[in-house]
Amino acid sequence: MKLVFATNNRHKLEEIRALVSDSIHIVGLHDIGCHDEIEETETTLEGNAKIKSDYVHDKFDLNCFADDTGLEVEALEGAPGVYSARYAGENASFQDNVDKLLDNLKDEDNRKARFRTVISLILGEQQYFFEGICEGEITREMHGEKGFGYDPIFRPLGSELTFAEMSMDEKGRISHRGKATEKLIAFLNKHS
Ligand code: IMP
Repeated sequence: MKLVFATNNRHKLEEIRALVSDSIHIVGLHDIGCHDEIEETETTLEGNAKIKSDYVHDKFDLNCFADDTGLEVEALEGAPGVYSARYAGENASFQDNVDKLLDNLKDEDNRKARFRTVISLILGEQQYFFEGICEGEITREMHGEKGFGYDPIFRPLGSELTFAEMSMDEKGRISHRGKATEKLIAFLNKHS
């Protein structure tokens, strides 16, 4: 089955391809010739995931899913949350966002945080949502060079390593996106 993942993030495409069985052929936006910038204008992860999946479905008439992820920090009342990608500004780099978060937490002992992913799937004109959560904490310094985004400063509960110190497989087994994807795959296997 061909399924569009409404993203151009090659890390996300790689992560998800490693998790799905070979019978599900995942393609990215560039693979279907979609080079549009899809604006995420909603204030919830669910809303933004829906915008992206709806856009591809409406324009290309293809089965599609989209995800939206936020890092929710307890001491910051859930920030950066839905604004994780642009925490340090509209064109912020991963490093800018990490620096801002570490700075905002520099005098904070409560380091609790969680990643939350919501996947919106459109399959045969129906819409479905799947959620995955990974609890953990924000480290005081960056550790590791793998992954992307906030990976070097996020240590999942029960682990001594940050996401950036783990292989893609290790991260995928416990991550927010891994858990949401597991639910998506279980659903697809049942319905394909
Ligand atoms: P997105 O909207 O799903 O692309 O995620 C928003 C932002 O959250 C990204 O720009 C990253 O900074 C961050 N993010 C999403 N997933 C992860 C992850 O697995 N590890 C680290 N950061 C992530």
